Amino acid sequence: MAIIGLESSAHTFGVGIVDEGKILANEKSMYNIGKGGMIPAKVAEHHIESARDVIVTALEKAGLEIREIEGVGYTRGPGIGPCLQVAQISAKTIAKKLGIRVAMVNHSVGHIEITNHLMNLKDPIIMYVSGGNSQILKRVNKPFSHYSVLGETFDIGVGNMLDSLARQLKLDPAWGSSIEKTAKGGKYIDLPYTVKGMDFSFTGLLTKATELIGKESDEDICMSVQETAFSMLCEALERAMMLTNSNEINLCGGVAQNTRLQNMLQSVADEHDAKFGCADREFNADNGAMIAYVAEKMLKHEAYTKLENCDVKQKYRVDSAMVYGR
Ligand code: FE2
Repeated sequence: MAIIGLESSAHTFGVGIVDEGKILANEKSMYNIGKGGMIPAKVAEHHIESARDVIVTALEKAGLEIREIEGVGYTRGPGIGPCLQVAQISAKTIAKKLGIRVAMVNHSVGHIEITNHLMNLKDPIIMYVSGGNSQILKRVNKPFSHYSVLGETFDIGVGNMLDSLARQLKLDPAWGSSIEKTAKGGKYIDLPYTVKGMDFSFTGLLTKATELIGKESDEDICMSVQETAFSMLCEALERAMMLTNSNEINLCGGVAQNTRLQNMLQSVADEHDAKFGCADREFNADNGAMIAYVAEKMLKHEAYTKLENCDVKQKYRVDSAMVYGR
């Protein structure tokens, strides 16, 4: 079943095409965030302008005509309202024109399931880390199949914390990825460390790090923030792993692209003889392939939505989304 998946929850307009779990295309156009952060109306405008081209390129890569597409999926949420609406409207337009079914996909489920699929993980404990979200999850099947949240951030996502620090340090680009580069060679400074059971918090760490700007070197600040934040995530994850008797770790979401975090969680896995899985960068960045992949599973289980009921949900929690198949 050739399925097209559309993703536009934040700065990326992504289009993926999947057939029986095989990824045939994964194309995207990313809004240039510059130094000003994300202005929702501007990002949505970028998505509207690039949607057609990205869809056409994805179809070319997959070697398919649009009429050969048998189903469509789009990100329902969580995300930024005006941005989400672009994929929603595009998906409805395609579905109406072709007379095919639509699946509304939870963005977080997309990241989790594409990683399980590509890394061959069966029943992992999940560390989902992105801009807006930082959660530890495990699949449970009661009262319905979903990813249950065992621990999460009390305030901001680890990605937003790193992006915010990058902006305040005037790094270019003003993303968390610049923190990783700048951290190399830095020395460790003691910073606030907040873990409560399997939950954690990042605002105290960010406030303290911000106060140190100009007093300590950028390298030392970046290194210390990374080490502190990621140690918090590792401690909480390890606790959740023990409690759930898990022998696999799934690391996914935008911040999963950070190699220092990957290495730290690999060490946690090694210590417990567990398997560690983290997909390639393109699947941890926002992408359409993960949406197409989940949509295919949903449509196989008749989990489609009538066009008039297709909506967006900015705060679509992962634990309210039903998951299908293995
Ligand atoms: Fe994402």
